[in-house]
Amino acid sequence: MSEDVFKKIVSHCKEYGFVFQSSEIYDGLSAVYDYGQMGVELKNNIKKYWWDSMVLLHENVVGIDSAIFMHPTIWKASGHVDAFNDPLIDNKDSKKRYRADVLIEEYMAKIDEKINKEVEKAAKRFGESFDEAMFRQTNPRILENAKKRDEVHARFVKAQNDNDLEELRQIIIDCEIVDPISGTRNWTEVRQFNLMFSTEMGSTADGAMKVYLRPETAQGIFVNFLNVQKTGRMKIPFGIAQIGKAFRNEIVARQFIFRMREFEQMEMQFFVRPGEEMEWFAKWKETRMKWHKALGFGDHKYRFHDHDKLAHYANAATDVEFEMPFGFKEVEGIHSRKDFDLSSHETYSGKKMQYFDPELNKSYVPYVIETSIGVDRMFLSVVSASYYEDELDGGESRAVLKLPPALAPIKLAVLPLIKKDGLPEKAREIIDNLKFDFKCQYDEKDSIGKRYRRQDAIGTPYCVTVDHQSLEDNTVTIRYRDTMEQERVAIDKLADIIADKVSMKNLLKTIG
Ligand code: GAP
Repeated sequence: MSEDVFKKIVSHCKEYGFVFQSSEIYDGLSAVYDYGQMGVELKNNIKKYWWDSMVLLHENVVGIDSAIFMHPTIWKASGHVDAFNDPLIDNKDSKKRYRADVLIEEYMAKIDEKINKEVEKAAKRFGESFDEAMFRQTNPRILENAKKRDEVHARFVKAQNDNDLEELRQIIIDCEIVDPISGTRNWTEVRQFNLMFSTEMGSTADGAMKVYLRPETAQGIFVNFLNVQKTGRMKIPFGIAQIGKAFRNEIVARQFIFRMREFEQMEMQFFVRPGEEMEWFAKWKETRMKWHKALGFGDHKYRFHDHDKLAHYANAATDVEFEMPFGFKEVEGIHSRKDFDLSSHETYSGKKMQYFDPELNKSYVPYVIETSIGVDRMFLSVVSASYYEDELDGGESRAVLKLPPALAPIKLAVLPLIKKDGLPEKAREIIDNLKFDFKCQYDEKDSIGKRYRRQDAIGTPYCVTVDHQSLEDNTVTIRYRDTMEQERVAIDKLADIIADKVSMKNLLKTIG
């Protein structure tokens, strides 16, 4: 999928009430977005799918909802005050600021792109007899590019592990990376920039207390670990799940809702016995991938990306990447964080964060496996994978969101063929019967064809048309979004037909 299609998806999201730029009438606020009437329904359905998959399908996972404001020392203990930084570099000519690591990553991605184009061209040229592996191993241009990429990659990983800002700058210079705006290589030094937003709380004689807007929801779980364990009589292994807002002062804020300054996370910390973390890490990797793939977009759209650079407290980390219109990108992180967070809170708060294990008859600080997914990125992946422009008979086309029915904002549209003869009343009667189970929409304006197009564009899986025959025999025409096929069905069968496909329960059953 190309950048062009991505632009179409962004404008589709606006045109049909999914996502609006925040503060638009004031020319917008960069990297902040609002969800509209359709967006909020889709977002809520994604959250429900995640929440239910955690707390319904796992007896030993419970949820919480902790506050956004927390004691500032929490962010010292978590390492965010000292180390939640991005390496930034300025171009002296354009006066624009960039993330040094992103500039280098984009440079490497461009080399990969070149290699892939070379392979694609050759595949076309040689047809069926093409041996891709052999071509990659022998083509001189590919070998040269792969060598260049690997060398930069090795330097990049080392510079990041050593926190060597000078070397990051040197890589940018050596690779002759230019500012996309000024086109020059007039770069400043690389500096660290903390991503947390801060504000002030209350007022004391000495001044107000500096507090942070949480950059992740996870710390709210860690500091409540014992509250939940004790009041819920939880036994290790167990998990705590949470959905909530997080805030980061992102410098490179691009690609629509992919990287935002205010966003939402769905995080789960799973507390385990030290020594058993790798087994649980593998289990959660599998569980989470299954959750993604159950949406039916195609297994080829997902891959794991194991981290080159492990945080000092982590002993394993991987990303679930999804093929966005602009390439494979991280949607979820799965991390084995050992006892780093709980032990650090023990040190900073002076309170014990230990669990007494009745089976082992001893106390310890549990290890943690974390699964952390961004709601907004998930939203973007779902919309991108669902967006189609179908060519229809007669030279027409339609923009359709082939959303998984369980996630669709509207499950059913009820359309009276005309606005009179009792058809609107019959349509309303159908909605009044179904509205307790499904989000329904009534639409009587324009031709039936136009109304179908509007429902296709917001991803409604079923349209029901009420006509004069409906008044006589209580049947309607049901039209299926993806196939556009239509059939005549009894009104009293509608609930069963719709429930079968749109039910969250059926989706959960495929992974539970
Ligand atoms: N507690 C671990 C943690 O926060 P992370 O990899 O920094 O880990 C987890 O973030 C997920 O949150 C990411 O995989 C991504 O989906 C989402 N996320 C992070 N920063 C984001 C941003 N600026 N905008 C939108 N989503 C973001």
